Amino acid sequence: MPLMPMRPILDHAAEHGYGLPAFNITNLETLLAVMRAAERTDSPVIVQASQSARKYADDMLLVAMVKAAAERFPTIPLCLHQDHGSSPEVCKSAMDLGFTSVMMDGSLEADGKSPASYEYNVDVTRRTVEMAHARGVSVEGEIGVLGSLETGGGEQEDGHGLEGTLSREELLTDPQQAVDFVKATGVDALAVAIGTSHGAYKFSRRPEGDLLAMDVIAAIHERLPHTHLVMHGASTVPEALQDLINASGGEMAKTYGVPLEEIERSIAMGVRKVNIDTDLRMALTGSAREYLKANPSSFDIRGMHKNGLARMEALCAERFERFGAAGHGARLSNRMASTTSTPSKAAVPA
Ligand code: G3H
Ligand code: 13P
Ligand code: ZN
Repeated sequence: MPLMPMRPILDHAAEHGYGLPAFNITNLETLLAVMRAAERTDSPVIVQASQSARKYADDMLLVAMVKAAAERFPTIPLCLHQDHGSSPEVCKSAMDLGFTSVMMDGSLEADGKSPASYEYNVDVTRRTVEMAHARGVSVEGEIGVLGSLETGGGEQEDGHGLEGTLSREELLTDPQQAVDFVKATGVDALAVAIGTSHGAYKFSRRPEGDLLAMDVIAAIHERLPHTHLVMHGASTVPEALQDLINASGGEMAKTYGVPLEEIERSIAMGVRKVNIDTDLRMALTGSAREYLKANPSSFDIRGMHKNGLARMEALCAERFERFGAAGHGARLSNRMASTTSTPSKAAVPA
């Protein structure tokens, strides 16, 4: 089955009340772990590549690898999404390569750092939607500023975003502005800011009601019941992986991610796409540390990644199960197969 756009996957998730984990991939190991977990749990897949992942892995090779995964796992509905595209040009280059979905992140300027004006965001996102929909590619937009309500914004490590302190109002998505934005741009999915941030250092204590603005999700979903909501920064940062890293020479400070129960609650409120990168990074590098510590004379790359692959696969499978996506892969691919004779807006790009 060829790569498919994100819209029909999220429509199916909305119809059946489940959520899709969207895993960031960087290399063969991350992709393979996701695909094996999806095969094991019969789940549809969204894999996404950031601009830095495209640069690291050579995007032509990365796309070829994902297309090969579609051939290797022919019954799994598979979408390749550009994560945090910083301009319409970046999104176009992704579409030209064969990405079937793009995120135009106009919440930040093209430098990916400075907060952008609402007008700028509407302009770049609307232009991207025009271009993408003409090719059957789906578009995710973002409104609000990703950042922790605890620290007042900012991304401490390997994420991007703002330094400094922002107020609750400045960080969170304004529900009425979300309505205006969707109307003005025509996006298929909308990333909303509810207090999560990228990277491992999200919260210094388990986030309860004051740190995750679930009420904002509910308010947006009530006003936009047909727009698929996206939660970024949704890694759980498992304590077991922090311990694994620290037991093998790592020095991670104690930290808390987004609890799985809160993600489940958000899915019940209309979140359909849940972005996960950090958890996979921790599983792979923690396992590599453990192997190299136990085998100091080894230089076996496959040995180094074997447990990491298994840990990432188990983590992905758990997310597919807990978000309710498990068991929907074959159903969705059967539906897609029966509708391929009547191409629609959501058709696969040439
Ligand atoms: O958007 C955040 C993701 O974790 C991507 O991070 O730009 O280091 O690949 P990256
Ligand atoms: P995490 O850093 O929580 O995994 O978030 C990833 C993300 O939002 C990618 O866009
Ligand atoms: Zn993100």
